[in-house]
Amino acid sequence: MIKSFSDDLPIVDIVKATKVYPPDIIAVQNVSLAVGKGELVFLTGMSGAGKTTLLKMVCCIEQPTKGVIEVAGHDLSRIRQTEIQKLRRQIGVVYQDFKILPKQTVYENIAIPMEVMYRSPKEIRKRVDQLLETLRITHKRNIQTAKLSRGEQQRVAIARAAANEPPLILADEPTGNLDSEVSGYVMELFKQLNNAGSTIIIATHDESIYRKSRHRKVELQHGLFSGHVGHRQLPLINA
Ligand SMILES: Nc1ncnc2c1ncn2[C@@H]1O[C@H](COP(=O)(O)OP(=O)(O)O)[C@@H](O)[C@H]1O
Ligand SMILES: [Mg+2]
Repeated sequence: MIKSFSDDLPIVDIVKATKVYPPDIIAVQNVSLAVGKGELVFLTGMSGAGKTTLLKMVCCIEQPTKGVIEVAGHDLSRIRQTEIQKLRRQIGVVYQDFKILPKQTVYENIAIPMEVMYRSPKEIRKRVDQLLETLRITHKRNIQTAKLSRGEQQRVAIARAAANEPPLILADEPTGNLDSEVSGYVMELFKQLNNAGSTIIIATHDESIYRKSRHRKVELQHGLFSGHVGHRQLPLINA
């Protein structure tokens, strides 16, 4: 039985994680971070700092070379493949390179995670249209995503990750291809999702989206957290 995301545990608990890519590239070194339920955390740092690698370890795309990663109380190195699949369905991921389906339309891409969860066609239509409106891409609804600009594709990736209002959202550079106005709409969506209960980690080097935010910021520098290096960063639950 899969543990629930509502258990009173950190949703994400990274304990002394190190990732070495062959032959000897240390992408993340001895990093610890606990993210509590309902938090919105900015994972900041320059390009190459290890942000993407850290997120990939949380969503099981990469395994840590050392250390432990727990999601909703599950040690990812110990859980069965079938349980990883169940867990993954509860994580909305915005990949840095989007990973949307090029031949499918905007609508179809965003509907996929809801179809997987057997949501009703009416409900799916309503939710997709609402997301398109929020992200200002309603006019591209029935276009194949291969024909969109990078900024439009990025918004499709964000809408797909948000579709089910998953308990955990990992967004990798979600505003990387967007101008400041559209970045504002995206951040508004993340805030709505966070207010509705989603725990969110946003990896970004875009200072404009976190500079004035009241949410927690943790900065990676060359694979290490800046400040108290190696120190366990405890959750701060936002009121
Ligand atoms: N698949 C990979 N193989 C080898 N090196 C990688 C791989 N992915 C990332 N790296 C390296 O790991 C370091 C951290 O990269 P990354 O996690 O993508 O950082 P960020 O997302 O902060 O830009 C960089 O030096 C990068 O070149
Ligand atoms: Mg990255």
